[in-house]
Amino acid sequence: DAAEKGGYEHFMLKEMYEQPKAIADTFSPRIKDGQIVIEELGMNDEEIRAVSKIVIVACGSAYHAGMTGKYVLEGMARIPVEVDLASEFRYRDPILAEGTLVIVVSQSGETADSLAALREAKKKGCKVLGIVNVVGSSIAREADNVLYTWAGPEIAVATTKAYSCQLTALYLLAMRFAYARGAISESELAEMIEDLKKLPAQVEMLLSHKDRIQKFANRYLAARSIFFIGRGIDYAISLEGSLKLKEVSYIHSEAYAAGELKHGTISLIEEGTLVTAVLTQEDLYKKMLSNMEEVKTRGAFVMAVTNEGNLDVEKAADYVVYIPETNRFFTNSLAIVPLQLFGYYVAVGRGCDVDKPRNLAKSVTVE
Ligand code: G6P
Repeated sequence: DAAEKGGYEHFMLKEMYEQPKAIADTFSPRIKDGQIVIEELGMNDEEIRAVSKIVIVACGSAYHAGMTGKYVLEGMARIPVEVDLASEFRYRDPILAEGTLVIVVSQSGETADSLAALREAKKKGCKVLGIVNVVGSSIAREADNVLYTWAGPEIAVATTKAYSCQLTALYLLAMRFAYARGAISESELAEMIEDLKKLPAQVEMLLSHKDRIQKFANRYLAARSIFFIGRGIDYAISLEGSLKLKEVSYIHSEAYAAGELKHGTISLIEEGTLVTAVLTQEDLYKKMLSNMEEVKTRGAFVMAVTNEGNLDVEKAADYVVYIPETNRFFTNSLAIVPLQLFGYYVAVGRGCDVDKPRNLAKSVTVE
């Protein structure tokens, strides 16, 4: 066991540290001569242009990756995207018009609800693309096409590196679709590819701040509730940050679209409640800053995750983690790192069984 952990205290930490390599392994084989080449997609430019809608279906963290995928695919490729929980999709007789591409995202490729959703989509005549980590798994075998995430085996129940690779796979898909549909230019694509290539080193740099995050996490070991807020793509990462924390630390946690705070959640903010605010989208900075001030006025302690250079944030936050510059669609890949570390260290500090949280399974093959 100790040897398998390669010197790390837990698989979860080891797998977080494998993220730079896993992300690079996922994009490298798909960048050729300045283009995104995804042969496994089995679609030429014309077929890509014929897709009228994308429906992403998944469970758990894969569903959160799908939410990011929605913002990225819509924003970059200007194609409408719906995201659905597999356990909801499969039972509601979904309306799938011709030209809909269904994407099933799954680390294990064995999640019962995701597999059933795939079968439902196929029955309705849709083409199904799997974004899967385990080679030869049920979802990989039954999907029409498979885009593998090359994260390697993931042992910790709480996913980290496989989730990061799902994000990477969705970026690649968005770039491929955006370029084929004329939504981005050759030079925009070239810039995105450069930014993609920088992600592994940037993730590595963020991981190197682990001691600082651990120190901060140690202040919240007795918290009753922790909140995460964000807008747009930062809302998607808030959901994943909140799930990481609650599944391994057993501290109640919720993520909210920051604009929804005043419709209820704000009543839960008390003196000293920790609110983690993610703000990586420049056009939403001002809105986020005012949400942070709203909770601060009610006694919250605010931790912010934002872009380097956004110094204004220090007026509204008590503790700030800066992420390095990247394309605005790729920020989730960086913002997730301090959130993963935070969840992990809160759980370690509380003495939880980090790699095998109670009541949870790595792969949910029952319905
Ligand atoms: C379980 C795991 C999660 C995972 C979810 C979906 O709940 O604990 O980490 O996100 O299943 O699993 P999948 O294998 O389909 O990605």
